[in-house]
Amino acid sequence: MENAASLSLDWTPASLTLGFTDDASQRPVYFNGNESLITAGGPGSYKTTSQVIRNLLTYPGSAIVLDVKGELWEQTAGHRAAHFGPVYRFSPADKDQRSHRYNPFDFISDDPAQATADCDAFGYEIISDNPDTRDPYWQNRARNFLWAFATMIAISTPKSLRNLAHLAQCLNISTIGTKEDGVITLASSTEAALKLLSALGDKHDIPDLRAVSDAIRAGIGLHSNRGESILDIARNHLAPFSQRRFVQEVTRTSDWHPLDFRRETGTTLYLNVSTSDLPSFSPLLRLMIYQHMRILLDHVAAPGEPPITFFLDELPQLGNFKSILQMQAVGRSAGLRLWMFVQNLRQLYTAYGLEAGRAIPEDARVRCYMKPDESIAEHIARTLGETENLFTGERRSLATAAEIRGPKFRNKTFVFASEDYPVILERRPAFQDLGYLVQEPPEVPQLRTSNAHPFASDDEVEQDTPKPETEI
Ligand SMILES: Nc1ncnc2c1ncn2[C@@H]1O[C@H](COP(=O)(O)OP(=O)(O)OP(=O)(O)O)[C@@H](O)[C@H]1O
Ligand SMILES: [Mg+2]
Repeated sequence: MENAASLSLDWTPASLTLGFTDDASQRPVYFNGNESLITAGGPGSYKTTSQVIRNLLTYPGSAIVLDVKGELWEQTAGHRAAHFGPVYRFSPADKDQRSHRYNPFDFISDDPAQATADCDAFGYEIISDNPDTRDPYWQNRARNFLWAFATMIAISTPKSLRNLAHLAQCLNISTIGTKEDGVITLASSTEAALKLLSALGDKHDIPDLRAVSDAIRAGIGLHSNRGESILDIARNHLAPFSQRRFVQEVTRTSDWHPLDFRRETGTTLYLNVSTSDLPSFSPLLRLMIYQHMRILLDHVAAPGEPPITFFLDELPQLGNFKSILQMQAVGRSAGLRLWMFVQNLRQLYTAYGLEAGRAIPEDARVRCYMKPDESIAEHIARTLGETENLFTGERRSLATAAEIRGPKFRNKTFVFASEDYPVILERRPAFQDLGYLVQEPPEVPQLRTSNAHPFASDDEVEQDTPKPETEI
């Protein structure tokens, strides 16, 4: 253990507790590095209580937390707010309409060259790759349309209209033309939007904006209106923002900046969306997490600053979130690390496809397994050639897959860390010894959702789809 490269018995501000030594001393074992971790364990295997909650109660660095059950906010936000830094809860589907607010457009440049790059994330994070799709033509086109309209909003609309509800509204243009004497006339709002897209494309030398405008125009009046089908895919992904008033309010402005996690160590964001709401909200959460990662990657941590840790409990519920895996590759040097939690490896193969799904645990610096299923138990048995007694340094060969799943290892966490021998740790849920740290979480603001126009601020005059000539 003394020579261990990844695991340590010494606490530092960067320490994440993985478990406890399985001898009489029961000392905590830490990972102090900047790389990513993954934990796999079946339902009820104490992943959340022994690793996520334990670390949120003890880790003083900044954290971004996926909290599908609301348990992480309930049990750790009070303590973190009292001892570590500001806490935010983004809960866009909350029944009591309590949430902090985040508008992705606030972090998109209004400089055309930069905005085109920033807006790529709208396409890629909102419409994720379906690993089973052979022909991604429609998906790619819908991304391209989303990108174009997002870019249009980013570079041409006033601040009060730079938001997701307005993006959804812009995509709702009618693609039905009226034909008279062979000439097709578009609805005036459609004509305005398409003209604005091409004018912006020409003015700022972004040919793809004109191309999207031309593609939509060309489809109108044709028997198979491809433009309409593509717009429909994009609309479906944005439906929650155009249909729910509370969501519009939650994404109208921002209560924090992604750089706050760096500026104020100990800042915590809880992304609190239940499993049943996640299918509608995972595009937004992917976009938000991606934006935080992107912005923070450009602002490297100061020496000695604990890494900003993304605790993604129930990660597979976010769908195919490939871009987050960049953090595994490049996060280290910027002081960003990812701790992913899954029930089994199959969930990763389903969400990411077999190849990428396999790479995720392979690329993690630390892999923890609790209550392993059969295939993980076999993997552990194969990998566990021998293990090291943490005290004596004595090595011994370990167990069969059946033994690994049996009573002997019921309360254990198997830890495989690159550059270390595998270790078997005692698993201890936070409620056993840290229950006294749990405090009432702070009050989250209740948002007023009036009947005012859904996406303009109160002092704005109501506006319809894009206002072309005046803005370019
Ligand atoms: N405060 C508590 N006191 C006593 N038992 C608890 C407490 N919190 C959770 N448990 C129990 O601990 C067990 C492990 O829960 P935990 O949430 O850590 O599992 P998990 O591995 O995260 O499961 P899942 O994949 O379903 O989220 C469960 O049986 C749960 O009911
Ligand atoms: Mg859990």
